[in-house]
Amino acid sequence: MKFQGVKIAGTGSYVPEKVLTNDDLSKIVDTSDEWIVTRTGIKERHIAEDDQFTSDLSSEAALKAIASAGITVEELQLIIVATLTPDKTFPNTASLVQKKIGAVNAACFSLEAGCTGFVYGLEVGAGMIGSGLYKNILVIGAEKLSSVVDWTDRTTCVLFGDGAGAAVLTATEVENNAYLGSDLGSSGEQHDILHIPAGGCAIPFSQKVVDEKLNTLQMNGKEVFKHAVKGMSNSATKALEEANLTVDDIDWVVAHQANVRIINAVGQKLNVPSEKVYINVDRFGNTSAASVPIAFDEMIQKGLVKRGQKVLFVAFGGGLTWGANIIEY
Ligand code: COA
Repeated sequence: MKFQGVKIAGTGSYVPEKVLTNDDLSKIVDTSDEWIVTRTGIKERHIAEDDQFTSDLSSEAALKAIASAGITVEELQLIIVATLTPDKTFPNTASLVQKKIGAVNAACFSLEAGCTGFVYGLEVGAGMIGSGLYKNILVIGAEKLSSVVDWTDRTTCVLFGDGAGAAVLTATEVENNAYLGSDLGSSGEQHDILHIPAGGCAIPFSQKVVDEKLNTLQMNGKEVFKHAVKGMSNSATKALEEANLTVDDIDWVVAHQANVRIINAVGQKLNVPSEKVYINVDRFGNTSAASVPIAFDEMIQKGLVKRGQKVLFVAFGGGLTWGANIIEY
């Protein structure tokens, strides 16, 4: 083994075609476009078809990322899928993606760190390449949150959407390393302020689970809000320190797209000008592990992020988990 540098060679993203607007939602639950926009900034979100799963969304994003990286699927040595909505509890979703895209030489596993999943995935992938063990790793953040949302609960169902984003990490010379710094953290003390209570071994599926909707996402919104702002701003600060950079060195902040108020509060705490903070939550809602890579890929497609620029990813989610990575694109 020989230490290697890491870079993001390519990205891709995919959202399902079907769009659910706030007005559509107001026909399902007692809510309004005005309430949702004021409290969250969300105007619409994309919803997967019944027969379209997290592995399908992942595969679409993956193929685009592989094409943009200029490698073949056979060159992939590892696929990591970060998700809280796997196709099945077992086996892992990454192996299903492998099957769908034909990445026959890849090892596969999924990673569960809630909405921070992609940021965790980048850290894992960068570590495995940096150590010299791997050369090409595909990191995907993908969710079909519409499958775990309680569509009668207006306090949660208005927030979430489906989609996938992916990045191919490749090895480079140590002196060209583009993974500049990071921070990951967790506080299991608050694991039940944002969770799906049933479906695991603690509360296996039963009629009671279905009757009481314990298989759907449950959240204490106010508590989550508070922890999200603190968790993301602290984590971003630590990652900057580790990278020996200041916020002025950063060209773009790509924060987890949960709520425009949370993103703005984090931006203010970090003292980042709002022009550097990308926002697309209005069009996609909270897509959990998919939100950072969808936003990043969209920025690249729009020509906003250019090679050589420094980008700060920061996210927060159930666990609780939080994390930040700083890369040079
Ligand atoms: N439409 C209309 N009214 C709604 C509503 C909806 N979709 N959802 C809740 N309300 C009502 C509440 O019932 C409450 O009514 P009441 O005052 O009569 O009791 C009122 O609106 C205010 O609700 P509250 O929960 O205090 O609103 P809030 O300002 O805290 O905003 C969230 C709620 C969920 C938008 C906000 O707490 C939030 O964004 N939290 C973080 C969520 C998140 O990002 N989770 C994922 C993290 S990865």
